[in-house]
Amino acid sequence: MSTIPSVSSEPLVANRRKITTKVFQRKKARGDPISVLTAYDYPTALIMDRVGIDSILVGDSLGMVVLGYENTLRVTMEEMLHHCRAVARGAKYALLIGDMPFMSYQVSVEEAVRNAGRFLQEGGMDAVKLEGGRERADSIRSIISAGIPVVGHIGLTPQSVNLFGGFRAQGKTAAAAKRLYEDALLLQDAGCFSLVLESVPGRLAELISEKLDIPTIGIGAGSGCDGQVLVTHDLLGLFDRFTPKFVRKYADFSSEMELAFNEFISDIDAGSFPAAEHTMDMPDEEWMILMSEIGN
Ligand code: KIV
Repeated sequence: MSTIPSVSSEPLVANRRKITTKVFQRKKARGDPISVLTAYDYPTALIMDRVGIDSILVGDSLGMVVLGYENTLRVTMEEMLHHCRAVARGAKYALLIGDMPFMSYQVSVEEAVRNAGRFLQEGGMDAVKLEGGRERADSIRSIISAGIPVVGHIGLTPQSVNLFGGFRAQGKTAAAAKRLYEDALLLQDAGCFSLVLESVPGRLAELISEKLDIPTIGIGAGSGCDGQVLVTHDLLGLFDRFTPKFVRKYADFSSEMELAFNEFISDIDAGSFPAAEHTMDMPDEEWMILMSEIGN
């Protein structure tokens, strides 16, 4: 018998209710931290929802940690929507945020609104996230007027990796920090209900979090944000091409998987799998009929 427990879809947290943008707002007002993780598939979403994560981001990090791309630039709308649907089937309570991929919102405001709408209509998401500061304000306003909640994302915005010359921390000079600070205020004014701050100095993130009414979600931005997000494959030790310095690994799934796969190969080599309990039988009389019919 397998000792692996099966995953139930029942929440472990009592009186679990659907998390909405209003809950994000209330949590900020009360000083309750907001937990966010990325997910790209049904079973992961199911487990996250069960343990009570506030929000699941179907990040375009999908491209790197699941699809094996060099960076996030090749991720398409169709790939994002495919994975959003899987996550939406697994999560009933968490606020679901779909990450708008490169070139789905940069060309025109109209395209941005249409593609944002697809995340809700076809992907089952509750909100979208897009990268960039002041240059995105018009698109963000229009997406929100279409009834779609938006999360902003400033600091290290991975879709601009070529502009930055690599995955580099941002906002380390007074001038760069001032620009990020202004962008944060502008994105709040444009109507974002939350803002991701990625790879920026801790004291800048803390200052922005204090000045904004909307909650900030930090990744590599220290403990002064209103919430934290990590890429799940980093947290699980499942993506070892590189691990950013700000990641805490909560598990070593790569090693666990290696062990399990090795054990499977050994069992096959030794002939110990499948065993009797993994094999189904058929009634003797049916077997006899078969034998006579094929003349065996
Ligand atoms: O794509 C992603 O996973 C993200 C997070 C790193 C915030 O944007």
